[in-house]
Amino acid sequence: MTVLVTGGAGFIGSNFVLDWLAQSDETVINLDKLTYAGNLQNLAALAGNPRHVFVRGDIGDVNLVAQLLAEHRPRAVVNLAAESHVDRSIHGPGEFIETNIVGTFHLLEAVRAYWGGMPEPQHSGFRLLHVSTDEVYGSLSADEPAFTENHRYEPNSPYSASKAASDHLVRAYHHTYGLPVLTTNCSNNYGPYHFPEKLIPLMIVNALAGKPLPVYGDGRQVRDWLYVKDHCSAIRRVLEAGRVGESYNVGGWNEKPNIDIVHAVCALLDELRPHVDGISYREQISFVTDRPGHDRRYAIDARKIERELGWKPAETFGSGIRKTVQWYLENREWVNAVQSGGYRDWVAKQYGA
Ligand code: NAD
Ligand code: DAU
Repeated sequence: MTVLVTGGAGFIGSNFVLDWLAQSDETVINLDKLTYAGNLQNLAALAGNPRHVFVRGDIGDVNLVAQLLAEHRPRAVVNLAAESHVDRSIHGPGEFIETNIVGTFHLLEAVRAYWGGMPEPQHSGFRLLHVSTDEVYGSLSADEPAFTENHRYEPNSPYSASKAASDHLVRAYHHTYGLPVLTTNCSNNYGPYHFPEKLIPLMIVNALAGKPLPVYGDGRQVRDWLYVKDHCSAIRRVLEAGRVGESYNVGGWNEKPNIDIVHAVCALLDELRPHVDGISYREQISFVTDRPGHDRRYAIDARKIERELGWKPAETFGSGIRKTVQWYLENREWVNAVQSGGYRDWVAKQYGA
């Protein structure tokens, strides 16, 4: 048995592939374009593993995807490939439209053709799982209830609009062609291999480098945080038992303002790697210009996946953030390697010299 994973060299994708291969005897075909966010070092532990087949390529390349499907006959496709960073989508939405919308469309076309030609019982057992985000639901005020799967779509950034469009395409392919799809809408992930353009890894690496910790606006924006390994277990569970055509919200029940997240990172670094002069890492916090159109609050109601599929996160925020900070302390070479010339160009563009 084989599964095709797209975006398997990115943050969530590489955690997903590593966990999948550790927990099952199935082969993974890993299709990834290796953009700035894709990193084969994340998968170094799989070197020589015959159950991991890496293919560099684009989900929008219909011929390549068709060829991979015909050759490897996967029982499922898990789509994690995307442009994922909101700030980059504000600077340049083009890649987001190209990969998240057009790329997903081409992937759907290739999968539809493959699934249409599958014999039974493989045809009935096939699934396409599309990984999406809570950002498609828009922004909540402080007293609104958390997003359920029935919340209207109200995306506010080019990133979330492109993800919303891809969700709609996935939904339409089920409704129109009967393609057996599943969609997951997850909150903010954190953990190992998180690219240091996102809040938590950026704060850790900047803190250790003695640089400012840039907090947007007043730092009171709220996100729900989920340890990445819990997201991976949720995807596996939905793939295993989710109802075809349904969406499942995935979250950690960990709503926190950004400033509390930054304080938590500083406290752990103060404990695990204190400054020699005893000054807290909090002294490095610097409030900077807010993100344009910054969503104020996301909150996930994850009761459906718990009720229907029995999934709950294993980590608390306290246990997950400790593991994460420890991982970054122990993997400085990984950090140094991803902080390439391209990464430095991004930091200069976003935060100034
Ligand atoms: P990431 O940016 O770390 O990784 C994306 C991966 O996709 C990279 O390896 C990249 O090379 C690859 N990729 C990009 N364009 C491609 C293309 N055209 N063809 C093939 N591969 C391509 O992203 P991530 O944080 O791991 O997110 C993975 C998925 O999960 C995305 O769909 C994202 O929208 C979703 N998601 C992320 C979070 C989060 O907090 N990180 C939360 C909810 C949902
Ligand atoms: O909610 C799920 C989404 O979470 C995913 O769909 C996205 O792919 C993922 O990138 C993430 O989006 P966010 O915009 O929430 O994540 P980010 O880490 O960029 O920012 C988290 C919060 O921290 C957000 O309110 C902006 C703020 N922030 C971010 C950065 C990079 C800062 O205050 N300073 C920063 O330097």
